Amino acid sequence: MTSNKMVLGDYQFFDLKPARQDMHQEIVAGLRAQEKRIAPKYFYDEQGSALFESITELPEYYLTRTEMNVFDRYGDDIAAVIGDGTCVVEYGSGSSQKIRKLLETVHMEAYMPVDISKDHLRNNARALHRDFPGLSVYPICADFTQPFELPEIANGWNRVGFFPGSSIGNFDPADAVTFLSNIARNLGPGAQLIIGVDRKKAPEILEAAYDDSQGITAEFNLNLLKHLNDALGANFAIDEFTHEAVYNEDLGCVQMYLRSRKAQQVTLGTEIVEFARDETIHTENSYKYHLEEFQALAESAGFAVRSVWTDERNWFAVVLLEVQ
Ligand code: AVJ
Repeated sequence: MTSNKMVLGDYQFFDLKPARQDMHQEIVAGLRAQEKRIAPKYFYDEQGSALFESITELPEYYLTRTEMNVFDRYGDDIAAVIGDGTCVVEYGSGSSQKIRKLLETVHMEAYMPVDISKDHLRNNARALHRDFPGLSVYPICADFTQPFELPEIANGWNRVGFFPGSSIGNFDPADAVTFLSNIARNLGPGAQLIIGVDRKKAPEILEAAYDDSQGITAEFNLNLLKHLNDALGANFAIDEFTHEAVYNEDLGCVQMYLRSRKAQQVTLGTEIVEFARDETIHTENSYKYHLEEFQALAESAGFAVRSVWTDERNWFAVVLLEVQ
């Protein structure tokens, strides 16, 4: 037994956030590509995280509420498969709303939320630590899309990964395999991963979820440009771009774009990027899976499927995987 098992209600913040230089290079490379693109992790500045929370409450955005219903329905089953001495590592914890739901039924010793949005992470982790006095909370500010080592304090626990919300949908299937393989290595053989997967369904339902009538998703997408203005000293004219979301049936994903209303130039520090009228920046893919497709993907990443929990409409699946 390691000493950290003796500590009850411990708290420590780990800052592994990459330097700004990485961000500048990555953004410029994406905007210089043949088809301009920006990775969806850049949505989540403070404002973007808040906008995403508003999205989760939209009538059209069924994902969060459906997954929460699955946690409600099967909380006891989930509790039964999580053993003692467990540290739950959540990749992309956001508001930590889902772990609160799990904590209603699931017992865990420690919780490690990993998120890129530092202040948001700190505030939510502190609040959680306050509300669950016996729980050790170890927030890690990191880009979970890049391989990173869990801090040593994670050693000695039985580790369970938690990756809800269909965040796996942001990766192209090949990258999802790489990502899940990294997590398998991160967690170690025999470890479990609870993962949320959005299932294929009618395109109208999917497109409405990513282009809501109140325009909150449009605001979320456009806020990305504001984030770049703030973080990199860019000068995007937010009003000169529009939001778009389409379901690509061939790929099986909803694709979000920002479309330039006119020919324009944008400056990022010393770099100038040209936009033709109607040119797009691809900002997000959100893949949807048939259960069999997801099972095959998980298996090629070195996991076995242990359980699948789903809602009444079969819209969303919570899948329990085990590292082989
Ligand atoms: C956080 C990646 C799960 O793809 O549904 C919501 C992000 N984008 N509306 C998703 C998102 C537009 C969301 N994930």
